[in-house]
Parts: sequence; structure tokens; C-alpha cells
Amino acid sequence: MRQTQLEDFLQLEEHNKELEKRIEQELQKNREKDKLLFQQSKMAALGEMLGNISHQWRQPLMEINSLFLPIEAKLNLEIPLDNEELLESIKKLNDITKYMSNTIDDFRDFFVKDKEKIEFKLLDQINSTINIISGGLKAHDIKLDIIIQKNPTLVGFKNEYSQVLINIINNAKDILVQRNVENPYIKISIYEKEKNIITTIEDNGGGIKTTPIEKVFDPFFTYEKINGSGIGLFMSKLIIENNMNGKLQVENTAKGALFTISIPKI
Ligand SMILES: Nc1ncnc2c1ncn2[C@@H]1O[C@H](COP(=O)(O)OP(=O)(O)O)[C@@H](O)[C@H]1O
Ligand SMILES: [Mg+2]
Repeated sequence: MRQTQLEDFLQLEEHNKELEKRIEQELQKNREKDKLLFQQSKMAALGEMLGNISHQWRQPLMEINSLFLPIEAKLNLEIPLDNEELLESIKKLNDITKYMSNTIDDFRDFFVKDKEKIEFKLLDQINSTINIISGGLKAHDIKLDIIIQKNPTLVGFKNEYSQVLINIINNAKDILVQRNVENPYIKISIYEKEKNIITTIEDNGGGIKTTPIEKVFDPFFTYEKINGSGIGLFMSKLIIENNMNGKLQVENTAKGALFTISIPKI
């Protein structure tokens, strides 16, 4: 009798070890999946950003194109050129290329991985984010309003914060364009409430049709989109809630969707 009890015990022990091993293996698999998802989300963001770059550059490229047209015409017609006119055009060219180079710097900064949590001014981050995406919004006549009551300092990964803003704004843009909304707008507000710094992003795109609405934060949840990856909002929630101790919530208003990012004050 005792002998079989011991055998049972040993068998159980063996079984437990086997289970532990399997759990560890599953955990490892999950960690790898998370990593992959993170990379995928960066790629998706990269794709969206490239779309934005092309908008951002279209205008200055056209300006460059037309900058030397009068000069070319004069040369062709053998009309004498004065130095001042040439210098003026060269100066304009320098300004434009400087602007283009700045946009590229903004993009590069965005894709540099945040190494450590730092203090940053919320408004600076919002401004450089808007520099990146304003071209894409203008191209679709989407009005962007920013209402600031405070310019708080946040602590965290600032590029990740920008990534969240870009995800939310790009989603709003997609919906506004897709649903062909009249007088489309996106409104960003920043204020403090109790011990939190709140950023809200709202649009007049008609709102989120999914129930429950929180489903939009599920990984790979995408709806009504041709090229949706369903990673943007999932990643955004992770960034805000896991890395910045905050909360990312969504609700519908009478006109559209309203996202609220809430981060504790330092
Ligand atoms: N501002 C919005 N208005 C309406 N629906 C939205 C809005 N933002 C997000 N959604 C919905 O949430 C889904 C998930 O968004 P996201 O995670 O960024 O993935 P993706 O943009 O790749 O579809 C979108 O497919 C869309 O259906
Ligand atoms: Mg998206």
C-alpha cells in the first residue's frame, strides 16, 4: 500500500514538472507573439507615416517646380536676368529644402526607439506629431483644432506617446474620408482634471459602430477598412496603460468618436 502511494506521489511530481515546463513554453511563445505584434505595429505605423510623408512633400515639391519657371522662360527668351532675382529664387529653394529636411528629421526621431522615460512638454510632442500628419489632413480638407488650457509636463516614452496620437488621428482621418463626411474636423483638447492630464481627440465621422465599443482595442480588430491591420488601437492602449500608467478610453458623441487619454500628473 505504502509503496503504491509513493509511486503515485512520484508520478504526480513528475506530472507537475511536466506541466511547469509546458507553462514556461507557452509563456515563452506568448512573449514572442507580443514581440512580433509590436514589430508589426511599427511596420503598420511606418506604412501610415510614409503615406503622410508623400502628402507632406507634395506641396514643397510643387513649389520647387514652379520656382525656376520664370527664370527658365527668361533664359529661353534671352531676356537678361538680374542677380537679385536669381538670389531670391535660391533663397526660396533653400527655405523649402530646409523644411523638407525638417520633416524627414521628425520622421526619423519618431522611429528612434525610446530608450528611457523622460520628462517632456505635452505641447511640444503634439506639435511635432502634427507637423508629421498635417499634410495628410490638409490633402483631405480636414480641419484640425487644438484647444489648450495647460501645457503640462509628462513623464514617459515621448515617441510612443506620438505613436498613440498618430494612430488615433489617422483612424479619424480614415473614417472621415471613407464616409465622405461634410466639413470634416478633428479636435484635440488638453486640460487637467483632478490628478490627471487629459488629452481628448474627437472627430465628426459618425462614430464607432461596433458593440461593445471597447472591441476596437482588441488585437487585429479592424472593421470597415480596406487595408486595416487592427493593431493601432491595441498597441495604443498598451502604450498608455502599461508603459505610462494611464488610461485610454473611447466613447461616441452625437457627431463621432471621442478618445480620452488620461495620464497621472507627476
Ligand atoms: N474615429 C473613429 N471613428 C470610427 N471608427 C473608428 C475610429 N477609430 C477607430 N475606429 C474603428 O476601430 C477599428 C480598429 O482601429 P485600429 O486598431 O487602428 O485598426 P485599423 O485602423 O488597422 O483598422 C477600425 O478598423 C475602425 O473600425
Ligand atoms: Mg488604425
